[in-house]
Amino acid sequence: MPQMRLDKFLASAGEKTRSTVKQILKKGCVTVNGTVVKKPETKVDPDLDCVKLYGETVHFQEYFYYMLNKPAGCVSATEDNLHPVVLDYIKEPHKMELFPVGRLDIDTVGLLLLTNDGALAHDLLSPKKHVDKTYYARVEGDVTAGDCELFQAGLDIGEKNRTLPAQLNILRTTSAIEASAGNAAAAQPKSPLTEIEVTIREGKFHQIKRMFEAVGKRVIYLKRLSMGGLTLDSALAEGEYRSLTPAEIEKLKNR
Ligand code: URA
Repeated sequence: MPQMRLDKFLASAGEKTRSTVKQILKKGCVTVNGTVVKKPETKVDPDLDCVKLYGETVHFQEYFYYMLNKPAGCVSATEDNLHPVVLDYIKEPHKMELFPVGRLDIDTVGLLLLTNDGALAHDLLSPKKHVDKTYYARVEGDVTAGDCELFQAGLDIGEKNRTLPAQLNILRTTSAIEASAGNAAAAQPKSPLTEIEVTIREGKFHQIKRMFEAVGKRVIYLKRLSMGGLTLDSALAEGEYRSLTPAEIEKLKNR
């Protein structure tokens, strides 16, 4: 790994912003190979130099990986003039280095990977790599076994090529979901709703919604459950995030 500034090294190590790091350095709380160093611009080699903060060795982390349970109403971008962005939910001091791996629509919720690892992001997003992405959706209309066959065969969604085979599973069809609430209003006939899970291997713009439109149906709720072997942690409420475990990072990298 190339040499880097001491303040960047310490900030990347996790808990501090670069300005806090500067104050800590000034106070003489940092040693490099046993010598107190106060200059933030001092160059260190993360592989060779032993940096200690308050006497504790600082382990350098170059890349960060988080899963966010994206809520509705924010855009999958690092900044936006109109809407909140997914980075607004991240509290880490190094959050400005992060970017979302791919996009979910503003109204789509669920798994979004955030990282500063450009190579992994590129690999996961490459159209040639066909990374599986699984979604749960509620769809207006009666999704049928025939639709599952059409999804499997590939659909014309107005692009040059038809979509790649997608695995569509019907979970539950209810003609009046509210009927289960048992009130008088619920007794009114409602249009059918179907709960489904679908796995696609591409990431075309609005792909799931457009695939359902192609079979005459409308997605009214969409949640991403998994991507490239990484599954959304069910303990995360919408808007919450956590670091990936080493095993999860390994799995993403060695798909
Ligand atoms: N397909 C969609 O239509 N929207 C998303 O956000 C993701 C996949």
